[in-house]
Amino acid sequence: MSMKNILCIGAGYVGGPTMAVIADRCPDIKVTVVDINERRIAAWNSDELPIYEPGLEEVVKRCRSRNLFYSTDIPKGIREADIIFVSVNTPTKTFGAGAGKAADLQYLEKTARSIVEHAENGKIVVEKSTLPVRTAQAMSRILHSNTKNLKFQILSNPEFLAEGTAIRDLENPDRVLIGGMETPEGEAAIEELVSVYARWVPRERIITTNLWSSELTKLVSNALLAQRVSSVNSISALCERTEANIDEVTGAAGKDSRIGPKFLKASIGFGGSCFKKDILNLVYLCGHYGLPEVADYWEQVIRMNEFQSRRFVGNMLAAMFNTVADKRIAIFGFAFKADTGDTRESPACSVCLQLLEEHARLNIHDPKALGNAKLDLEGATGEINYLEDPYEAAEGAHAIAVMTEWKSFRELDYRRIFDSMEKPAFLFDGRNILDHAALYEIGFNVYPIGKKALTHF
Ligand code: NAD
Ligand code: UDX
Repeated sequence: MSMKNILCIGAGYVGGPTMAVIADRCPDIKVTVVDINERRIAAWNSDELPIYEPGLEEVVKRCRSRNLFYSTDIPKGIREADIIFVSVNTPTKTFGAGAGKAADLQYLEKTARSIVEHAENGKIVVEKSTLPVRTAQAMSRILHSNTKNLKFQILSNPEFLAEGTAIRDLENPDRVLIGGMETPEGEAAIEELVSVYARWVPRERIITTNLWSSELTKLVSNALLAQRVSSVNSISALCERTEANIDEVTGAAGKDSRIGPKFLKASIGFGGSCFKKDILNLVYLCGHYGLPEVADYWEQVIRMNEFQSRRFVGNMLAAMFNTVADKRIAIFGFAFKADTGDTRESPACSVCLQLLEEHARLNIHDPKALGNAKLDLEGATGEINYLEDPYEAAEGAHAIAVMTEWKSFRELDYRRIFDSMEKPAFLFDGRNILDHAALYEIGFNVYPIGKKALTHF
């Protein structure tokens, strides 16, 4: 096979790791990643990569300058590419029609227009970003507005990686989904992209569909996953009222092979850049296509998620004698999940803001996300300290609130922590990751999610 040139526009959480793995698995393909953000590109070219993912650094170091290049020269990248992945951000619109729900497609459109401007031959353009169903139609119209008579094939190839396990997910995906036009040219383009993934993904895990199914599948996959978390969290509230134990309930329910054991962990709520945004997008689309009942059904997943973090703070207040004013609270974890420094839509942020409103003083500790936490809470009123050391964070605190399921939190010396805290000492485990009986033995008043609290009074 001849050397292909792949370009990815957008060097973020998706474009960066995805292209690194393609370059790693396809040494005969030249992969270039471009971005308008010069600082991000400089970071990809440095020893301090712009994002943290286990295993990412090794892959990048192996391929960089061999067949993996990061650049800000977007026109050159477009001219040279045979296949262009578009992996720009598609956030929720904050203005105008559809504000707060619809996807903001301005970055996507700008990308399509720069492809039109700089391309000198026809190309395969791959939607990697998560997009509303039927975006490929708009994309095709923009690309074919070129006056050079160039022909483009548009494919949809949504990304299913989860943060914190991105490299593992990319190297060993459950499935790769490729949608294209149902024409001979469309099918040829699909096969071209299949041949890239087939270098390392078993053929039966590469699914090909029409464009619209592929675009919609991405929104649906995230909606179904988030719905599972909201369903479990709703039941965690009922467990707390009835002395049922959420881990026992989901453990037993998940044994049913139709339900399955994964993604049933109660928490303070889901976060991350995708779930809320993609459900809002789905809700907007359902409204747009005249299906208000379907829209309401999915919107409830987000409402339940917001209820869960409010409920958590409500439980903290109730346990701590209805006031946290002036009390120091150690926040263990700020990332939206473990093994990432990403804090986008982190429920920890919402909990912190609610506690600050109650005039609590916060000591925030996170192994990877302190930098982002500072940015997220910039401008928030109240005392906030950011601490690298969890023991320092807990010193003199009335309570610890576990927000992220970092493994390191399980390995701390909780007797030492207890001795350094104000009494009575409270521990609210928003992830159910600690040994609650052992903490109770040490002297903590322990409040898990969806389980009976263990208190000394
Ligand atoms: P991101 O914000 O980390 O990265 C997007 C990058 O695109 C930014 O660096 C931005 O500067 C760049 N960009 C924007 N406009 C540009 C332009 N005109 N030209 C060149 N570069 C431009 O976003 P992300 O998390 O990588 O997500 C990208 C897409 O992938 C989104 O649609 C998202 O929904 C989807 N997605 C994200 C995840 C995830 O876990 N983060 C997983 C699956 C899918
Ligand atoms: C998600 C999808 O999993 C991924 O396929 C898609 O490509 C991007 O969006 P991500 O947001 O990175 O990935 O993380 P994920 O592992 O899905 O977790 C999302 C949120 O749900 C996190 O805040 C996590 O803590 C929470 N969660 C997850 C729970 O509260 N309970 C669970 O059982 C699982």
